[in-house]
Order: sequence, then structure tokens, then C-alpha cells
Amino acid sequence: MRDKLPPEPPGSEVTPEKLYLRRRELIKNAGLFAGTAAVVGGGLYLLGLKRTQPMDGFVPDAGAVAQPVVPARGAFDTAEPRTSYEDITTYNNFYEFGLDKNDPARRAHTLKTRPWTVVVDGEVHQPRTVDVDQLISSFPLEERVYRMRCVEAWSMVIPWLGIPLGKLLEQVQPTSFAKYVAFTTLEDPEQMPGQKSPVLDWPYVEGLRLDEALHPLTLLATGLYGKQLPAQNGAPLRLVVPWKYGFKGIKSIVRITLTREQPRTTWNLANGREYGFYANVNPEVDHPRWSQASERRIGDSGRRPTLPFNGYAEQVADLYRGMDLKRDF
Ligand code: MTE
Repeated sequence: MRDKLPPEPPGSEVTPEKLYLRRRELIKNAGLFAGTAAVVGGGLYLLGLKRTQPMDGFVPDAGAVAQPVVPARGAFDTAEPRTSYEDITTYNNFYEFGLDKNDPARRAHTLKTRPWTVVVDGEVHQPRTVDVDQLISSFPLEERVYRMRCVEAWSMVIPWLGIPLGKLLEQVQPTSFAKYVAFTTLEDPEQMPGQKSPVLDWPYVEGLRLDEALHPLTLLATGLYGKQLPAQNGAPLRLVVPWKYGFKGIKSIVRITLTREQPRTTWNLANGREYGFYANVNPEVDHPRWSQASERRIGDSGRRPTLPFNGYAEQVADLYRGMDLKRDF
């Protein structure tokens, strides 16, 4: 499987282990943002082309890559066993590269992740257009070991590396009109051949309420397992919102726009009855075509109960006080 992955980034691009550990230390003890439809596959559940259980033909792979470091736990980290690097990087949803779970790992090498420019604009006092490496080096990287629960009823535990989105938003100074944050993936069918097919409206777009975006759990991920993010996982920059279904975690972001109105989101546009704007993990609100009460942890056998807000209720339930989460799903 491993030789099907896109080539590893050159050594200079991978955080050396010592530096990685040192960063962990800096973070524990604690920027300048310079101005500058395929035929098979679980993804088909999202599109409604498969009808029964969200089984996807996945065969757990015993050949897990050794974990590079087991650092001390941060405040938000889960102690649950981490999903293997192999599984995290070969079992993906990234429709710009096909609908099968193993398509992104085989095909995403066509994505040129450097140089890469990110625009941060809209309702902000300090709009920015910035090179992604400049952005990344402007903030200390943090490791966050989060559960990820896909709307298809499978889950993983992923040691992300990234920047709390709130830190970036602070730098650009939202105006008093900013209520939401809209995210956009690159649109380039030559680099992302799946965009030549009208399976979704391209580019992929997502959104959060501003208070969700500012929540300390919300991360802009730049890496995983202490290495640079592989293309199939959304390099060079992807969103991670661990209490929401995985489809909120938009990949390969080129634009972050603060808005007054609730932004449009790709899966809601594709099927508003099945995919809401909020998409908070909720075992009590079933998907119209399957139960959300339990999930399959990739690499494990058996099913486990799904937890409200994916186990992060203590941190985030307050954000939704007074809302009817069955209606606002
Ligand atoms: N972002 C883009 N641009 N395109 C996609 O198809 N898929 C989403 C989300 N982000 C997707 C995306 C879905 S459905 C999931 S479950 C997660 O990415 C999967 O992330 P992973 O492949 O890193 O596990």
C-alpha cells in the first residue's frame, strides 16, 4: 500500500523529530502574520447511490506504520489508540480525486501544494493574501489528537498538527459585522481531475458560525503524525472541527472569508435533507438512510456507540444552547 502513496516530501519539508518534540514543549509551556461517480466505494453513501448499511468494502490493514513519537497529552487530546498512519492516508474522502476511498492516495499526487496562496478576506479589518508557508511559520504548531467521525458512520483517531483557527482570525481582526466564516477549496480541474465530473458543485465550500470558528478546538491542520499533511488528507491546509461530521473538514483551502450571512456548503447544496449546515455529530439524529447511533472505528472490529458532539459535548454544547438540534442538524 505504501508505495501507492504520493512521494514523501523531501526531508527538508518534514518536521524533524527533534524539532517536533521541541515544538510540543514550546506549546505545552505556553506571531506575526506578515502582510503578505465511480462504481464502488463508501463515498457513494454520501451521494445516495448505495442504499443499505454504510459498508464500504474496507479491509483493515495489519501493516501499520510505527508511530514516530508518543508525546505527552495536551488538554484536548484523546487517549484512545491512534489510527495507523497507513489507514489515515489511504482511506480518504476527497471527491476531487475520485469517489473510492483509495482513489485520493493513488491520485492526489497531481495536486501541487507548493507554492500555495491563501486569501483571508471579507468582514475583516486586516485582509491578507499570504503564502501558506509564511502563514504556517507565523504561529506555533500544536498537536491535537482528535476523534474524527465521518457522516458515513466510521471513525478514526488522528494526531493532527496545526494552528488553532481562532489565532489566525484574531490576526485579521473580524469586523462587528462578521457572523460566519466561509472556506473554499482550490478549483483547478487539471490538478483535481474529479472536478471535471459534475458529481458535486465545484469548488468544495464549507462554513462555520464565527463562534464555532473561534472555538479553541477548531484547527487549521498542516500535518499529521508530526509530518507534513499528505495531499490526500487536504494539503497544504485543511479544516478540522472534531465535534462535527468529517465533511465539515474542508481540504486544500485557498480562501477564508468572513461573512455576514450563513455561507453555502457543498453537501447541503447537494442534498439539504441529508446534510445540514451545522452537522454536529449526534447519535439521536439519524441520517435518512442509516443510523448514526454507532460507528465503526477504522482498524478495529465491532462497533462502538457514537457520542453526542463526538465526545466533545463538555467543550462545545454551550455553543448551541436554546437551539433545536433535531431541526438545526
Ligand atoms: N474536502 C474537499 N475539498 N473535498 C472532499 O471531497 N471530503 C470531506 C472532508 N473534506 C472532502 C473534503 C469528507 S466527506 C470527509 S469524511 C473528510 O474530508 C475526510 O478526511 P480524510 O480523508 O482526511 O479522512
